[in-house]
Amino acid sequence: MSRKVDGVLVTGSAGLIGSESVRFYCERGDRVIGVDNDARRYFFGKPASTAWNRRLLERRYRNYRHENVDVRGGRGRAGQDSEVPQAYQRTLMEIAEPEAL
Ligand SMILES: NC(=O)c1ccc[n+]([C@@H]2O[C@H](COP(=O)([O-])OP(=O)(O)OC[C@H]3O[C@@H](n4cnc5c(N)ncnc54)[C@H](O)[C@@H]3O)[C@@H](O)[C@H]2O)c1
Repeated sequence: MSRKVDGVLVTGSAGLIGSESVRFYCERGDRVIGVDNDARRYFFGKPASTAWNRRLLERRYRNYRHENVDVRGGRGRAGQDSEVPQAYQRTLMEIAEPEAL
């Protein structure tokens, strides 16, 4: 795959597969927005958290931005109500029409 794109949205971006995807796209120079609400911690407890991986990505790649939102919309950090629908919509719009924001 060699096509250059304006932005890449990676869901589950702090997880095993997602974080490797982030690395792939960031290293080829794409602007990457990752969506991950650390649901693993909510479901499986602190040892299962992927927050450490999120921090690594944020530190390493200036072209990576993290959104701590639920891909399903309607909820923010797993189990808590929040303003997620608007935040997530904005993320998608940034990728589709960055100049419009
Ligand atoms: N690991 C493998 O070998 C493998 C192989 C084939 C397919 N898959 C599939 O790829 C996907 C990811 O697998 P993985 O191994 O990277 O899992 P993972 O648990 O390491 O990562 C999943 C990430 O998604 C996040 N997440 C979960 N629900 C979320 C939600 N509602 N909103 C936002 N973020 C959420 C978690 O916090 C976690 O960081 C899964 O669907 C899995 O079935 C994995």
